[in-house]
Amino acid sequence: MDLRTDYLGLTLAHPLVAGASPLSDDLDGVKRLEDAGAAAIVLRSIFEEQITREQVSEHVNLDMHGESFAEAASYFPSPQTLGLGPFPYLEHLRRAKDAVRIPVMASLNGSTPGGWIEFAQLIEEAGADALELNLYHIATNPDTSGAEIERLAVETVRAVKRAVTIPVAVKLSPFHAALAHLARQFDQAGADGLVLFNRFYQPDIDVEELTAARTLHLSDSSELLLRLHWIAILSGHVRSSLAVTGGVHTAVDVVKATMTGAHVTQVVSALLAHGPQHLRTVLDDLGTWLQEHEWSSLAAMRGNMNLTKVPDPDAYERANYMLMLQSWRG
Ligand SMILES: Cc1cc2nc3c(=O)[nH]c(=O)nc-3n(C[C@H](O)[C@H](O)[C@H](O)COP(=O)(O)O)c2cc1C
Repeated sequence: MDLRTDYLGLTLAHPLVAGASPLSDDLDGVKRLEDAGAAAIVLRSIFEEQITREQVSEHVNLDMHGESFAEAASYFPSPQTLGLGPFPYLEHLRRAKDAVRIPVMASLNGSTPGGWIEFAQLIEEAGADALELNLYHIATNPDTSGAEIERLAVETVRAVKRAVTIPVAVKLSPFHAALAHLARQFDQAGADGLVLFNRFYQPDIDVEELTAARTLHLSDSSELLLRLHWIAILSGHVRSSLAVTGGVHTAVDVVKATMTGAHVTQVVSALLAHGPQHLRTVLDDLGTWLQEHEWSSLAAMRGNMNLTKVPDPDAYERANYMLMLQSWRG
């Protein structure tokens, strides 16, 4: 069965990519993911704050760098809890590249244009096959408009693209007023791929301790639906490759994502829950499913459920909404 796919200009054996997670934090983990059949691996992120902290501390004591930086630095996690620092990260990337034959992608996580972006060059020099740029950002400032937030995001993508020659995928959040327009702008800024979506981690409230309770719950397949919806909308309208992250647990999840137009599906929660070998199960099930449903290749079905043939997608979405409401049967 031909499961090949092109993603960010790379030809992958199939669409199952191990997404950014602690599973690739050490070389054993990286090798286990390759052995389990991953077509490519995304390493965990190195954060803008980690890079800036390192750049700042090279020059000046943190407390002296200005009140707002010192204040912000006080609630950032300590460097020890964040995992590898910038230079150990590069070393890990180099060693991971040497250890496996599949593409290894690094992940740079930040949301504003700035000096930290230069780190992308070091990532390229360390041998990454591609870079995932995670723009996770929550717009809390009432004085900042959506247009300004989008401008900064697009400028960040442009700056990263200027810094490297390897392909760049942009991992983004679903909360934008005009996501299709923003996706088009990323496209025009040179993004090679769009990764839909960051999960919106929402702390609960510990009412006894009066603190934010941060517990990371793994996803299930229900989270896939939001991704399917937007891949179906974007597919055919952007040049960038499309990746799904969030809610991919089974072969049928991969089939659905491909039908909406995804080139790859990233898996994390399912591997954390069942171990890296779960990838092999999904891959085998995918081959069986395609055979049983008489598909000759995955490419043949890619995008067959996207919205490109819908004459008025806005009206279609309204109709969808109304039909969904009517579908309730108690
Ligand atoms: C423990 C853990 C650590 C993660 N670390 C990162 C990270 O460093 N960078 C990133 O972009 N995403 C990170 N993610 C998000 C995943 O890459 C993925 O986008 C998300 O979990 C949704 O996919 P899933 O439903 O398959 O879990 C992490 C997820 C988990 C569970």
